[in-house]
Parts: sequence; structure tokens; C-alpha cells
Amino acid sequence: MSDKSTGVIRSVIAGCGSALPQRIMTNADISKIVDTTDEWIVERTGIKARHIADDSETTRTLGVDAARKALAHAGLEAGDVDLIIVATSTPDQTFPATATLIQADLGITRGAAFDVQAVCSGFVYALTVADAMMKTGQASCVLVIGSETFSRILDWTDRTTCVLFGDGAGAVVLKAETHPDSQQSPGILVTRIHSDGRFHDKLYVDGGPSTTKTVGHLRMEGREVFKHAVTNISGVMDEVMKEAHVAPADVNWFVPHQANRRILEGTVRKLGIREESIVMTLDRHGNTSAASIPLAFDVAVKDGRIAKGDLVLFEAMGGGFTWGAVLARY
Ligand code: COA
Repeated sequence: MSDKSTGVIRSVIAGCGSALPQRIMTNADISKIVDTTDEWIVERTGIKARHIADDSETTRTLGVDAARKALAHAGLEAGDVDLIIVATSTPDQTFPATATLIQADLGITRGAAFDVQAVCSGFVYALTVADAMMKTGQASCVLVIGSETFSRILDWTDRTTCVLFGDGAGAVVLKAETHPDSQQSPGILVTRIHSDGRFHDKLYVDGGPSTTKTVGHLRMEGREVFKHAVTNISGVMDEVMKEAHVAPADVNWFVPHQANRRILEGTVRKLGIREESIVMTLDRHGNTSAASIPLAFDVAVKDGRIAKGDLVLFEAMGGGFTWGAVLARY
């Protein structure tokens, strides 16, 4: 840890990258599989299309692709990385961790690699763990990856869930740098995560190695999830902004988990956020669970919206329930 008079350790976002499966499935395509319409899906969720992995595309391959792009964007080599954290609920295998598979594909043999499982909040949880490890000197260059192939755990006969999700991956590289202890310095400023396991059966997968010995399918009480989402998300966003002494108007970009346009609109209204400051990709990506935030972040960095020095707020909620937020200066 550093002496506060000379500066503090900050986890600085040095680069980002993302990867999407080749195949795009539109709402019209889905309406050939289940009894639904483009109109219903767009009106209730805002989703128009999603990418679906083929057999050669997995959580590992999408994660590696996103990680390589993030390293190139940061101008770093795989050999610089001393920690890999993969947020996923759809690992290639029950074990080992997908992070170790990605570590091997990148040719990294030092440091550590592990997965974090917090469903759609996974990326926010992974950033929180990475930041804590960097601040305690346990890592200096971290690849934080959100990668998912939810299409593999969907029940493609259940129209209430299969229309909502998609596949993809996003990654950021975090570098430990010493900066003045100021809100103006780059890096992660505040992280906050929560969970409440009483709601574990509102959004879950009905299988697993220790119970059914199968992978299982995603099940969800959509209305119940919806009911808690706006309260939990706006609550934790408020917490991190208060801790950093910033107002919604000071935040340049909100990069939320991309679950549902109506949840985002409810949150925006509750917190008084400018709608133009929200990065929304769910129309093209659907809900890609732990991948959705780094995917959206990469889109907005690469199209020039998010610039160095901008204040960015990430937030998510997912199965568990889990939820959390991270405030960072890019
Ligand atoms: N196409 C057409 N009709 C559908 C449908 C579909 N894909 N899915 C459900 N319906 C029907 C239902 O069967 C129901 O019909 P009924 O009234 O005849 O019984 C009707 O639409 C309303 O269903 P309901 O579940 O009450 O709709 P809703 O307004 O709550 O919208 C969700 C459903 C899933 C879009 C909404 O609850 C939601 O967004 N929840 C949060 C989900 C989420 O974001 N989860 C991820 C969190 S990480």
C-alpha cells in the first residue's frame, strides 16, 4: 500500500475489448421458434436482436477474443498480466475455472486466474475483487472478463425467458498506478456489492453437478425480478455516488447491465439521470449477463462517446439476488 502523502494505488482502466458470436438472431427469428412477436419483445424489453454462439464459440473462446483486443487496446502484452478474473455463470466446464483456460490460451503461466459467479452482477463483483487485490498489492495488471453463452442454458420452449438473453464477452485491463488521492485522478473510485439470498429461487438454473448432475435451464419469475430491480439498482448507485461526493449530473456515462429498457427507464427517473448519458446496447445484444457491461463499455469507448477523464458508473443486478455498482474515472 502506498503512503497517502505521495499518492494512492488506483486500478486504472488501461484498455477494453469485446467479442460477439457471428450469428445474429432477430426477434423475427425467435418468433419462428416460440409463440411471440417482435412487437411484444420490443415493447416489454427494448431487445431487437441478440448474438447466439455456434458450437465452435464458447465462453472460453469469446473471452480470449475479448481479452486479446483489450490487451492490444491497452498497448500491453499477455506477459504483463498477473491476474485474470472471469465473471461467468456459463463456464466451459464445471471445473477448472474458465479463467485458467483463458490463461492457457493467452500463454500466461504466472500469477493467478479464477472465476467469479454472481450471474448478471458478475462483472461488477469481479471489478470489486480486482480493485481490492490491486489496492492490497496482490496484483498489478488484471484482466477482468465477463463472458457468457446463456443460449446454452435457455429453455428454447419457454417464451418468457428465451427471448431475453444473448451471448458475448467483454474485457477490461486494469493497471495499478499511484495517483494523488483525488476524485479527479483516474481509476476506480468506489465499489459496492450486495446480495440477498432469500430471493435465490426467483432467478436460477434448475440443475447442477451436486443436485441433478445436469447443467439445467434458466428459470425466472420475471415480475418478481422486475419489482426488486429498480429499488436495488438505484439504491446502490446512490450509495457509490454519495460515498464519492458526486451527483448524478457529475457522472458523464452510466453503463448499466443491459437487462431491460423499462428497468433502466425506471432507474433514470428515480435518480434524475440524463437519458443521453446512458449507454444502451440491449437492442442489439439482449441480456448477456456478466458480459453486458464490458460489452457496452467497449462499444461506447470505441465509438468515441466515452473519453479519458470521464466519470463512468457501472451497475448491475442478477440472480441471488446480487447487485452492485462501481464508479470509475476512465
Ligand atoms: N411473447 C409474447 N407473450 C409473452 C411472452 C413473449 N415472449 N412472454 C410472456 N408473454 C405473455 C405472458 O404469458 C402473459 O400472458 P397472459 O397475460 O395471457 O398470462 C403476458 O405476456 C404478460 O406476462 P408477464 O410475465 O406478466 O409480462 P411482463 O410485463 O412482466 O414482462 C418480462 C415480462 C420478463 C419482460 C418482465 O417481467 C421483465 O423484464 N422482468 C425482468 C426480467 C429481467 O430483466 N431479468 C434479468 C435480470 S438480470
